[in-house]
Formats: sequence, structure tokens, C-alpha cells
Amino acid sequence: MKFLQSSMLLPPLVLAALLSFPMGASPHKDFLQCISLRSNDSTSISNVIYTRNNSFYSFVLESTIRNLRFNSTDTPKPLVIITPSRTSHFQATIYCARKHGLQIRTRSGGHDYEGLSYVARVPFVVVDLVNFRSVDVDVENRVAWVQAGAILGEVYYRIAEKSRTLGFAGGIYFTIGVGGHISGGGFGLLFRKYGLACDNVIDAQFIDVNGRILDRKSMGEDLFWAIRGGGGGSFGIVLAWKLALVPVPATVTAFSISRTLEQNATQLILQWQDIAYQLPDEMNPDVTMVSINSTQDGRKTILVSFSSLFLGTIDELLPIMQQRFPELGLSRQDCIEMSWIESVLYYNQLQNQPLEILLNRTFRTPSGGQYYKIKSDYVKEPISETGLNGLFSRLSDEEASSAVIIFMAYGGIMGRIPEDATPYPHRAGNLYKIYYNVNWQEQDNVNSQKYIDWSRRVYNDMTPFVSKSPREAYANYRDLDLGSNNVGITSYTQASIWGRKYFKNNFDRLVQVKTKIDPENFFKHEQSVPPFL
Ligand SMILES: Cc1cc2nc3c(=O)[nH]c(=O)nc-3n(C[C@H](O)[C@H](O)[C@H](O)COP(=O)(O)OP(=O)(O)OC[C@H]3O[C@@H](n4cnc5c(N)ncnc54)[C@H](O)[C@@H]3O)c2cc1C
Ligand SMILES: *[C@@H]1O[C@H](CO)[C@@H](O)[C@H](O)[C@H]1NC(C)=O
Ligand SMILES: *[C@@H]1O[C@H](CO)[C@@H](O)[C@H](O)[C@H]1NC(C)=O
Ligand SMILES: *[C@@H]1O[C@H](CO)[C@@H](O)[C@H](O)[C@H]1NC(C)=O
Ligand SMILES: *[C@@H]1O[C@H](CO)[C@@H](O)[C@H](O)[C@H]1NC(C)=O
Ligand SMILES: *[C@@H]1O[C@H](CO)[C@@H](O)[C@H](O)[C@H]1NC(C)=O
Ligand SMILES: *[C@@H]1O[C@H](CO)[C@@H](O)[C@H](O)[C@H]1NC(C)=O
Repeated sequence: MKFLQSSMLLPPLVLAALLSFPMGASPHKDFLQCISLRSNDSTSISNVIYTRNNSFYSFVLESTIRNLRFNSTDTPKPLVIITPSRTSHFQATIYCARKHGLQIRTRSGGHDYEGLSYVARVPFVVVDLVNFRSVDVDVENRVAWVQAGAILGEVYYRIAEKSRTLGFAGGIYFTIGVGGHISGGGFGLLFRKYGLACDNVIDAQFIDVNGRILDRKSMGEDLFWAIRGGGGGSFGIVLAWKLALVPVPATVTAFSISRTLEQNATQLILQWQDIAYQLPDEMNPDVTMVSINSTQDGRKTILVSFSSLFLGTIDELLPIMQQRFPELGLSRQDCIEMSWIESVLYYNQLQNQPLEILLNRTFRTPSGGQYYKIKSDYVKEPISETGLNGLFSRLSDEEASSAVIIFMAYGGIMGRIPEDATPYPHRAGNLYKIYYNVNWQEQDNVNSQKYIDWSRRVYNDMTPFVSKSPREAYANYRDLDLGSNNVGITSYTQASIWGRKYFKNNFDRLVQVKTKIDPENFFKHEQSVPPFL
């Protein structure tokens, strides 16, 4: 793609705007001037630029800050936010940011657990894909072209609008952006049946550091491989994905059974560890653990919930559970039938709400901590009773009063997709993944460190019971404690510490792709894939 060379075409309005930015005054003024000159349609680009003086700057910036730890006054803010409405805006932004030494942070849904899509410790520009979110569903061919700024809720809603028996194998929380989500893997209710979101991408539209717009054919299979799970923000900007839709039955069933420690929950978890990963692909069994005050004596205990979605009816589910896991004692009353799209609402605790809520990209659950720290682990051998007791004892710590720990069963198709099919390597041999979430409320944000310390403690305690060499972690559960690049030069050795945890041996191929597509390491952040020096 060629950029227009001449400023002669600038409409007077833009020229007037430019005059208010004296030349050479500061990198971002140079950047703004460059962008107006570079864009072949300056009127439209001036409508999507937000400088700190713009009254909408804070509104746009804060709209999708999900982890409110990064909504504080001392969080570094971008010099400029651009919300491109056409591809030429991306091209102009990349060109001018390179030219004037500004870093770009790309944001789709803003769910990055460490805020890397909108926080940087160098002068930077946020490219926010809020205006790039069309969803085109083709029921006949069971595909959809989805722009990267769409949220999962928009994707699910637009599919359901046309068919109640098609779905997409993406994440549960509907405000997640498909840009970051698919870039880092993406698992949800259907992952044991159909794999991750990144396993269900068949084409993409992508812009590289030179402003070239590429599709699968023109980017080649190596880059196409890398962008499906190799982590967002490393290779360039994904503009759109072509997704394979998957069949779902007209009726699905959700169940949940809760037990406290006094009700033998530990015994059930020990059994679950042996059973869950072997349950049918049509299920996604998980175990959720939280600390509660016992209703009987007010003392702390752990509430353990065993749940799953099942792609079928209650009548089909009950005999399976009776045969495979009789100790759980699943009965009809623990189950509820619904359509697949209703299950999306159900898992967002929005059952009986109108489906249109899925289109609300700024939706926030009214309750629940919005300040959090996340970690992940993969488990290959069942954890002993001693190990579980250690975990429960941590969960009983004061800092963990609203922490949530979830075991998510693997197996199913996840055990049958080869480790190198996509950069996401955690496939066969895993019993389950652990998700550690500690969260807190605004009024306690001054004490955030004690919660973060708690999450490090529990992670440390769990070392003997989880994967080793490397201790694997999920790229979409970004955790800067696993290591991070220097702000300046990143060594391969340094990056491979966190890189192998997220990608195992796929990390080397990611580095090769990066070296080819972005040798000067323009697209970078604290955990981006570095090129070979
Ligand atoms: C409340 C909550 C619930 C979650 N639930 C799940 C879940 O059920 N399943 C699951 O798998 N994960 C889950 N996640 C993790 C989520 O998948 C990741 O945080 C994901 O990366 C978010 O994508 P995003 O576009 O919303 O984030 P962003 O913050 O916008 O981006 C994340 C990363 O990708 C980069 N990026 C964003 N857009 C692009 C693009 N267009 N091209 C290239 N790079 C880009 C960013 O620069 C950043 O590095 C959850 C996260 C939260 C906060
Ligand atoms: C923004 O406002 C500051 C003062 O608040 C002013 O100094 C600066 O020149 C303004 N920048 C632009 C680009 O208008
Ligand atoms: C983020 O911070 C701003 C400024 O302090 C505040 O006005 C806004 O309400 C905060 N956002 C949320 C969702 O709490
Ligand atoms: C601007 O560039 C885009 C693609 O780069 C092209 O499709 C469009 O026609 C151009 N517009 C003008 C006015 O030159
Ligand atoms: C817990 O297990 C013990 C021993 O196996 C049994 O006696 C008891 O009835 C069980 N309690 C519950 C609530 O199921
Ligand atoms: C649980 O009990 C503790 C102290 O006994 C109390 O501080 C806390 O508020 C209780 N939590 C809930 C959710 O009731
Ligand atoms: C989206 O959800 C938020 C609450 O989380 C609400 O304040 C807002 O009004 C909703 N927007 C629309 C368009 O419904």
C-alpha cells in the first residue's frame, strides 16, 4: 500500500488544525502532523484522533480499561489515542509512529490482565479498534468474517441472529475482544469439543510494520501460524479474522453442584481429577473454589462447585454422569436446559436478560472485584490430598476473601490437536488447567500489594504439584511475574524464560517469524516475542 505523498490535498480544516501544532515542538506533535500528511483522507482521520486535550480522551481511554489497577492517576497514559475507521488510518499511524519514535499499543477489547494494550513506560500511542468491529456471518458456509475490534458477545449474538444451531469456540466473558483473545489462544464452553478460538481461524487480514495489508495467502503459513496463539502485540495488527463456525445442538444443559469441605468436597475433587479429563468432549467440566463462612458455625470453609455445560439434553446427560461419576450424585434438579446462546448469558450470570446485552462492549458486572491479579498452571498428575489442603489453607487467608480458584478439565479434542499445530502448546498430557484469581475492591486498592503478594504465595506453594521445566502458563492469562523484556534491548535468552512457559518449543518458531516480519522489533511490549538480534 502506498501512502499519499502530497499535502496539497489537505482540506482547509485540517490545515488549520495543523497550524496549532508547531513543528518540532514534541514527538507527539510531529507525529500528529505526520499523520495528517500521510493519511490519504485527512478529514476522516482527524475525527478519530484523541489527544490529551480532547474532552473525549479520558472517556475513550477508560472505556475498556478492564483491570482497574491500571485506571489510576499514576498509570502512564498514551500521548494520543487513534480509533481507526479505515485501513489507511492504521497505515498512517504505523508509518508516523515509527518515524517519530513512538511505540504503538494495539487494543481490541482491553482485557489484557496486565493492561499492556493501553499502558507503556515509553512515549506511546494507543490504536484502539473500537471502530473496526463488523461481524459478517455466512450460515450456509458456516464461516464469519469478524473485525478484530468486535467483542465475543457481538460475534455470538450475530451468529445466533441467523442460526441457533451454530456457535463459535471462543471465551466465556462476552466483553473480551477477538483481537487479543484469538491472538493468545481463546478457550471457552466448547473447547473440549472444538478446540480453542485460534484453532478455528481459517483466514485473517493483517497489517505489518511496513503498512502492507496481508491475508493468509500473501502472509504465508508461518506468519499465519504465529498470529493464531503466539500472543497479541508481537507481529503487527490483526484487522480481521475469518472464523469457522461450529454446530451446537438446539438444547444444551448446564449443571452445578456445590459442596463444602465438611460435605466431603476434597474426596470429590480427588475423584474429579481422575474422571473429568475423560468425560465426553461435549462437556467442559470445572471445579470452582472460594472461601466462605459456614452457615452452620460461621467458621471459614471452602465452597467447591462442580459444574459443566453439556452439549445435549438433561436426559442424555444424567446416565453419563451416573455411570462415570456416581459419587457426585448429579440429579435433574442440578441441571438446567437452554439454547447455546442462552448459555453464554448464563455463564456471565445474566440469565433471563435480553440477548442484546451481549452487544454492550462496556458492560461491567455490577458486583465483584474489578481490581485483580491472575495466574495459571497446568496439571499433569493428580494433586494429592495434602496439596489440596495446602491450597484450601491459602484460600482461607484474609487476602483471599474474594479470590477464586478454578480447575478446568482438559482432554477431549485438546488432547488430540498436535502441540505445534498452533503456538498454543498445552495439549495432550494435561489433566486440567488452574486459574488463580485474586481480586479486590476500589476502597482497598491502596493495599493492592498484599493481594499481589498473596497470589505469588499461592503460586509458590503450588510448585510441587504442577507442570515443571517449563512451568507452563497460558499466554492469555498474562502475568508479568513470569518475566518481562527490558524496555530497551530484549535478549532472546531473557524472553525465552516467559516464552517457553507460554509456548514451550513453539517459542523458537515464533522468534523466527518475528525476525522475518518485524526485524527491528517495532511491535513490542513487556512480553512480546523478540527477533534474533
Ligand atoms: C474478565 C476476563 C475474563 C476472561 N475470560 C477468558 C476466557 O473465558 N477465556 C480465555 O481464553 N481468556 C479469558 N480472558 C483473557 C483474555 O482472553 C485475554 O485477556 C485476551 O488477550 C483479551 O483480548 P482483548 O482484545 O480483550 O484484550 P486487549 O487488552 O485489547 O489485547 C490483549 C493483547 O493483545 C494485543 N492485541 C489486541 N488487539 C490486537 C490486534 N487486533 N492485533 C494484534 N494484537 C492485538 C494487545 O496489544 C495486548 O497485547 C479473560 C480476561 C478477562 C479480563
Ligand atoms: C494542550 O493543553 C496544554 C495546556 O493544558 C497546552 O499547553 C498545549 O499547548 C495544548 N496542546 C494542544 C495540542 O493544543
Ligand atoms: C477510572 O478513573 C477515572 C478517573 O479517576 C474515574 O472517573 C472513572 O470512574 C474510573 N473508571 C471506573 C470504571 O471506575
Ligand atoms: C486511500 O487508500 C485506500 C487504501 O489504501 C484506497 O482504497 C482509497 O481509494 C484511497 N483513497 C483516496 C481518496 O485516495
Ligand atoms: C463423607 O464421607 C464419610 C466417609 O466416607 C461419610 O461417612 C459421610 O457420610 C460423608 N458425608 C457426606 C456429607 O456425604
Ligand atoms: C466472614 O467472617 C469474618 C469474620 O468472622 C467477617 O469479617 C466476614 O465479613 C465474613 N464474611 C462474610 C461474607 O460474611
Ligand atoms: C452497558 O452496560 C453498562 C453497565 O455495565 C451500562 O451502564 C450502560 O448503560 C450499558 N450500555 C447500553 C447501551 O446498554
